Amino acid sequence: MRVLVTGGAGFIGANFLNLLVPRHPEHHFVNVDKLTYAANPKSLAPIADAPNYAFERADICDPEALDKVFDTHQPDCVVHFAAESHVDRSILGPQEFIRTNVEGTFHLLEQCRKRWKDGDAWKGLFHHVSTDEVYGSLGDTGFFEETTRYDPSSPYSSSKAASDHLVRAWHRTYGLPIKITNCSNNYGPLQFPEKLIPVMVLKMVERQTLPIYGEGLNVRDWLYVTDHCEAIWTVIEKGKVGETYNIGGHNEKTNIEVVDTLCKLVAEETGADVEELLALKSFVKDRPGHDMRYAIDASKIEAECGWTPKETFETGMRKTVRWYLDNGEWVESVRSGEYKRWMEENYGDR
Ligand code: NAD
Ligand code: DAU
Repeated sequence: MRVLVTGGAGFIGANFLNLLVPRHPEHHFVNVDKLTYAANPKSLAPIADAPNYAFERADICDPEALDKVFDTHQPDCVVHFAAESHVDRSILGPQEFIRTNVEGTFHLLEQCRKRWKDGDAWKGLFHHVSTDEVYGSLGDTGFFEETTRYDPSSPYSSSKAASDHLVRAWHRTYGLPIKITNCSNNYGPLQFPEKLIPVMVLKMVERQTLPIYGEGLNVRDWLYVTDHCEAIWTVIEKGKVGETYNIGGHNEKTNIEVVDTLCKLVAEETGADVEELLALKSFVKDRPGHDMRYAIDASKIEAECGWTPKETFETGMRKTVRWYLDNGEWVESVRSGEYKRWMEENYGDR
């Protein structure tokens, strides 16, 4: 296959490429990324020189740039990660979320539609990476199933819901071969330090207060990032065209439980006093429209594709804490803007 990955310099995309490029020398991978604040080319150091990997800096909202990339690389599989992904940012400034997540998805679908029809038959596969947040919030019980009604709460989740609808419409109307996965909260190496887990670990190391929104009782279903990447690849290989698959880790935790676990792990890994870390917890103003509970029923992907997560919450969280403690250089490059200067030097101002 000639696989075009969008957003491959972000958290999940980089983990996906670092895992699959070395494992599949028979496939060619091209990473199309605009390199926004959330991207870090350093995350791709393990594969930067691989013969089956190429990088193209491009905005998925720019049809001419996409035309060139598609002409050059002739992909027959698109794995679409690129998005604005942070809920708090979407509340402060929704416009970029509508642009990238909705318009960008539209331009990619159009590229595939105009290139993949061969007589009456279609070739290719458009795999859309989406989120469980499209389903809105659960009460105390129940799980998100693939048939759960869409009910998004934030500008981020509504833009992702819109993109899911576009992808499904291109399948139903034109016949474009698509698959969609809706996944729960990811954690692990290379996550930008604006999301809960890296924020908390790095604040603990610096003995800063740990901002917990509201009462900290919101529940998320945590999944280690490489388990998500394996699930996507499994669906690409074994899932049915036109279908949606939910992906989750069976790890429902309140935010307080997550922070308490991180305090314990950071104390164990650094020799810090756990009570000192726990005392840093601080309850702050809640996020507007804050969904209460997410939980995934992953029985469809398990039954149809044979995927189950490998990491438990305990093993995945310990690996993640260790990674942030051992990779101060990566963290510093993100925080200092050093990688942004590197981008300017290597890719100019575009
Ligand atoms: P991220 O914010 O870490 O990375 C996004 C990447 O997309 C960045 O490299 C960025 O430069 C790129 N990008 C943004 N706008 C672009 C544009 N206009 N053109 C080209 N590239 C652009 O995001 P992530 O956490 O890795 O999430 C990846 C995907 O997975 C998203 O679609 C997100 O909705 C979905 N998802 C994320 C999670 C999670 O917990 N992080 C869970 C489920 C689904
Ligand atoms: O469910 C999947 C989604 O998970 C993805 O689609 C999103 O791209 C991803 O960002 C993530 O969204 P969340 O809003 O759930 O993740 P975040 O890490 O921002 O927050 C997790 C929970 O922690 C949420 O209930 C808000 C809370 N929180 C977050 C931060 C950053 C805090 O209490 N304090 C914080 O400082």
